[in-house]
Amino acid sequence: MTAQDLEKLLQEMSLEEKVGQMVQLSPAVYGKDSVITGPAGEVALTEEKTALIGSLLGTGDPEVIRRIQKEAVARQPHHIPMLFMLDVINGDQTIFPINLALGCSFDPDMAERTASIAAREASAAGVHVTFAPMLDLVRDARWGRVMESPGEDPYLNARIGEALVHGFQGENVGEPGRVAACLKHFAGYGAPEGGREYDNVELSEQTFRNDYLTAYQAAVDAGCRMAMTSFNTLNRVPSSANRVLCRQILRGEMGFDGVLISDYAAVEELISHGIAADRREAAKLAVEAGVDIDMMTTCYLDNLPDLVRSGEVPEALVDEAVRRILRLKNDLGLFENPYKDADAAAVQNVWCCDAFRKEARASAPETFVLLKNKENLLPLDADTGDGSGGGEKILFAGPYLDSHALYGSWSFPNHPEEIPTLRERLEQRGDGRFLYARGCGMLPDKTVLTDHPLPDLTPAQNVEAVDAACRLAAEADRVVLFLGEHIRQTGEGASRTSLRLPEPQMELLRRVSAVNRNTIAVLFTGRPLVLREVEQLAGAVLCVWRPGTEGAQAILDVLFGETEPSGRLSMSFPRAEGQEPLYYSRFQGGRPRFSASDPKAYRIGYIDEDYWAYHAFGAGEGYTRFSYSPVSLSAAKLCWADPDRAGTDASGAAAQITAAVTLTNTGRRRGTEIVQMYLRDRTGSVVRPVRELKGFRRVTLDPGESREISFVIAEPMLRFIRLDGTFGSEPGLFDVYIGHDSTTDNSAAFALV
Ligand code: NOJ
Repeated sequence: MTAQDLEKLLQEMSLEEKVGQMVQLSPAVYGKDSVITGPAGEVALTEEKTALIGSLLGTGDPEVIRRIQKEAVARQPHHIPMLFMLDVINGDQTIFPINLALGCSFDPDMAERTASIAAREASAAGVHVTFAPMLDLVRDARWGRVMESPGEDPYLNARIGEALVHGFQGENVGEPGRVAACLKHFAGYGAPEGGREYDNVELSEQTFRNDYLTAYQAAVDAGCRMAMTSFNTLNRVPSSANRVLCRQILRGEMGFDGVLISDYAAVEELISHGIAADRREAAKLAVEAGVDIDMMTTCYLDNLPDLVRSGEVPEALVDEAVRRILRLKNDLGLFENPYKDADAAAVQNVWCCDAFRKEARASAPETFVLLKNKENLLPLDADTGDGSGGGEKILFAGPYLDSHALYGSWSFPNHPEEIPTLRERLEQRGDGRFLYARGCGMLPDKTVLTDHPLPDLTPAQNVEAVDAACRLAAEADRVVLFLGEHIRQTGEGASRTSLRLPEPQMELLRRVSAVNRNTIAVLFTGRPLVLREVEQLAGAVLCVWRPGTEGAQAILDVLFGETEPSGRLSMSFPRAEGQEPLYYSRFQGGRPRFSASDPKAYRIGYIDEDYWAYHAFGAGEGYTRFSYSPVSLSAAKLCWADPDRAGTDASGAAAQITAAVTLTNTGRRRGTEIVQMYLRDRTGSVVRPVRELKGFRRVTLDPGESREISFVIAEPMLRFIRLDGTFGSEPGLFDVYIGHDSTTDNSAAFALV
C-alpha cells in the first residue's frame, strides 16, 4: 500500500476501529491456546469488540495463526490484518544461549546469526514481531532478569543489541524470513532497588543517559521497529505514563519513530502504582505519554473512544498511534499477504533443521567462560578407550546430567523432551570408561519457586544419592559435576537474595571433592554467582549459562577439548551478595582503595569483604595462554578535528590515534583471545568512571603466533553527558588500557587538546 492509501484507510476508520488497533490481547479471546507470560487477567469481550483487536501475543503455532488471521481479516471492518507477536528471545525452536551468554561471546556477528535463525523459524510460524532484544543494562545479579541482557556494559550491550536487531529484521522486515524487533524495556528496568523484580528505579540524569540509554539508542539507530515500556517507575514516574521518557527522550531525542507498546498489563498497573485513579485515567495517561499499544488489558478498548468523544484526549493522539501501527503492518507486507511467511508445512523443514542446530552447537562454546582451570584439569583426556578400562575413568554426575532443560526460562520449545541431555550425548560417545550418578536433587526438598512447586529428592534420598556418587568418585580419575540454578531461578519474577548454588548441590560438591580432588564443576546459571566455596572445592569451573538446544553437545565439545571455551564475563562475579550492585565501570571515589592490601579503615569498600569482584568483567580463560606487549600509541595528542581527516593539526595533535599491542599465543594450542580496550578520562566536569570499554576484538592465533591488534581512538569516543547536560568531550589526559580483562594495567596515556 502506498503512504497515501494508508492515510486514506486511516481516515475511513471509525474511532472504535482505530482504538482496536491499539489493543493487544492473547489468542485466548479467540478461544485459542497461547503461552501465558504474565498474570492471567479477566477479559470479557463482546464479539464486536473482539473483531477490532489489532494484535495478539503469545502464539507461535502456524495453524492457530493462520486460522485466527483468516477470521480476523474477514471480521475487521476494513479487513485489516492482525499483528502476531511473541517472545522469541534466544531462538524459537532451535534455542541458542541466553543473552547474558551472548554478551560473554563478545561476538556481535554470532549474535546476529542466532537472531536471524530465530527470525526464520518464528516467521515461518507466522510471527511478525518478536519482543526482543532486551537491552536493559544490568549491574545487580540479584535481579532475575539479568539473564536476558547482554550484561553490565553499555558499549558491549550496544554492539550486541544492534546485531540482534539486524539479525531479526535484516534490511527490510517485509522480506521473507524476517520479523520486526522490539527493544525493551524502556527504560532503566535493569536497575530496580535491591535487585527486587518490578521495584522502583532511581537513576541520576548522568547515569541514565551515559550508561542506560546507550544500548537502547544503538537499537534505535539500527532501525528497530518497536519498543516496549518497562514495568518500573523511573525517578517516581511509571514508564507507561512517562511523557518525558516516551515522547521527549525516546522519540524526540533518540529519533525512534516505530510503535511503542506497553509491557504486559502495564497500563492498568498505573492504578496500582498510584498514578491513575481508575482504568479510564490509566488509558488517558498512557496515550498521552505516547504508548501506541496497550498489551493485555482493555483499558484503551473500553475507555479511549469515550475519552476522545468527551474531548479529554485529542483524536490526533489516537491517529498518530494508529498511523504507526498501520505503517508497520504495511512494511511487513500484511495488506498484500496477511499470513506473511506462515506455512505449517514449511516449519517442518525449518524448525531445528540441521544447519540451525549446527549453529547452536558452534555458538555455545563462544559463550562458555572458564573461570578456573588448576593444573589443566580441562580438557579431559579425549582418548575414547576401548571399553576395557583404557584411558582415564571419569565420573559424570549432578542434577543436570539428565536434564532436558538446558535453555533459559524465556524459551518455549515445542518438544523439550527432544533436547538431548548430557547423559544421552555421553552415551553416544560410547566410552566404556564413563561412570554416571545422579548425585543429588536440583533444589532442597519442598522448595517452592513462585508458583512452581517442585518434586525433588527428599533429604534421605539426597543422602543416598550423594553416597552413591562418592563411591564412584573414589574409583574415578576425574569427576565432572553438572550443577546449577534451576531454570525457574532466573528470568522474570526470579530475583534472589542468595547467589549461591542450591544447598544439596553444594553438599554433593563438598563430599565428592573430598574423595576426588580432580573435580570439575560445570555450572548452569542465568546470573553471576558467589563461587568462592565452589572454587575452593573444584579444580576447574566452567560456566555454561543456559546454552540451549545443543548445549549438551557443545559442553562435551569443550570438555573433551574439541573446541575451547572462549567467552569472557559480561557481568562481574561478586565475592558476596552484599557487594551487589557490582560493576567494573565504577568511580574511584575520594578515598580510593588501590589494592587488596590497602589498610581497610576509612577507604571505599567494606570492613568484612574485599572491594573488588571475585571475577572481573572481561575475565575468563581458554585452553592456551596469551601475552600482550605494552600499549603503543601513534601520537600523544588528539585534537577535536573531524576524525575522518587524516594527519595532524598545527600543534602536532592528530585527528586519530592508533593504540596497538602485539598479542602472542604463548601456549601449546590454537586459541582465541578477546582483546579488550578501555579508556579512562582522568578528569571531567563530572566524575568519570575508572575505565570504560570502548573496543574489543576476538582474535584466534596458532601456538607461537603473534599479531598486532590495533584500535583507532578519535574524539567522538570520548564524549559523555557533561555537567551542563550537553553531550561532548572535555580536554585533558586519558589512559588507554588494552589487555585480557577489565583489570589490566597495560596502558598508555594521551591528551585531548
Ligand atoms: C512481560 C515481560 O516483561 C516482557 O519482557 C515480555 O515481552 C512480555 N511480558 C510479553 O510476554
